[in-house]
Amino acid sequence: MLRFLLNGEVVTLDDVDPTGTTLDLLRYKLRLVGTKEGCSEGDCGACTVLVGELGDGERLVWRALNACILFVPMLDGRAVVTVEHLSRSGAQHPIQREMVERHASQCGFCTPGFVMSLYGRSVGALGTADEPIADVIAGNLCRCTGYGPILAAGAAVPAQWVDDPATVAALKALARSEPLALTYDDPLSGTRRRWFAPRTTDELAALVLAHPEARIVSGATDVGLWVTKQQRVLEDAIWTGEVADLRRMAEDEAGLTIGAGVRYSEARAALARLSPDLGELVRRIGGVQVRNAGTIGGNIANGSPIGDMPPALIALGALLTLRRCDERRRIPLEDYFLAYGRQDRRPGEFVEAVWIPRPRADAIVRVVKLSKRFDSDISAVCAAVALSIEDGVVREARVAFGGMAATPARAPACEAALIGRSWDAAAAERVADALAEDYAPLSDLRGSSAYRLAVAGNVLRRLWLETSEPDEAMSVLAEGLADG
Ligand code: FES
Ligand code: FES
Repeated sequence: MLRFLLNGEVVTLDDVDPTGTTLDLLRYKLRLVGTKEGCSEGDCGACTVLVGELGDGERLVWRALNACILFVPMLDGRAVVTVEHLSRSGAQHPIQREMVERHASQCGFCTPGFVMSLYGRSVGALGTADEPIADVIAGNLCRCTGYGPILAAGAAVPAQWVDDPATVAALKALARSEPLALTYDDPLSGTRRRWFAPRTTDELAALVLAHPEARIVSGATDVGLWVTKQQRVLEDAIWTGEVADLRRMAEDEAGLTIGAGVRYSEARAALARLSPDLGELVRRIGGVQVRNAGTIGGNIANGSPIGDMPPALIALGALLTLRRCDERRRIPLEDYFLAYGRQDRRPGEFVEAVWIPRPRADAIVRVVKLSKRFDSDISAVCAAVALSIEDGVVREARVAFGGMAATPARAPACEAALIGRSWDAAAAERVADALAEDYAPLSDLRGSSAYRLAVAGNVLRRLWLETSEPDEAMSVLAEGLADG
């Protein structure tokens, strides 16, 4: 049995399909149709709801999430707020009032999602503090109104974290004594689906060992699409979202350890302290709703060739901890990616944490994501370079790219063209030429092979200009802008 708070009331569900979505539950079963379905893949934000859970110190943490890729068991023990709740008193919430007065809605299809994102900001939801409003709504798309009035409506309502002792008490009352485990017999497909939600890494290790074929689910920002878009049936799923010790980070002089269950929004500040480029990269991963769900561990474990974090972490020399039962092994992150769709994860093993060494103070770290849209888009190419230069000579170089091969991968020929040589314009050209030895990128809808090689080379040329000839870099940039 599943229990959660919905707009302040306890909801109890029996016979839950573990991979049913919150959006379908709201709209088709609970008849709360204010939450809209635009894309069913976490892109448009029309389905945004707030989900609250007790964080450290029992502080209530609200997250804006995309209900279309939020599996129903992920609501267990949490508080859900939908757009209907905002006007429960009969009066519009200030966000709604501002949206109306500023003509920030036309067809209205996207409007509940925008309202919920802006409402999240107004109550201090995760990932919104001190963020420009344009970033808060970057995960919401509108086709008709234009964003000016929506931004103005958001700016008109102050943001302030709000204590909510009644919800905290209600959530404590929902706390379960045993980990959640569900079994569901699907009458349509005739399959049996199971959902396990362990609460410690020891429980997780035991479950993964006992069910090595089970799909490990973290934020479901990709797995959710397998269900909604590919109609895939997940029979057994082990969810990491309740594993408290997987959600820890530890930072010291040597580096940063990120547990596999840490969400992007939670890790962003610590990553930015390692390198500002890492923080900026996280800002460009999905929108707030995606960053509030997706985890860095999940992004790595998934093994996508266009996952954004792996190239950056590989360039920094990250080490991955994999665990099987009580055994752990630590490997360079790049060694985890064996081939397209194939990772070095053995049966019964799971990604436990990633450790990222702190770059030396004088190191040059540059991460560049190239995509068709600035926000909420998938990389055509993601480039990451870490250089250590002494007396004008490159002493250490780690170069990695995403989108250039079947896996995120280092660039050994580029690195060899750098190490022990002067860091100058010739080096930048040499390294750009070496790219063709390291990669034979494919052509797809995000870019042709030639485009990928060309822009990857330009990233390296730009890095040299920015680090050695900033004035020259600015004039090249100005020429480019003048050329349109
Ligand atoms: Fe588009 Fe959910 S329906 S993000
Ligand atoms: Fe029509 Fe935004 S008002 S999509």
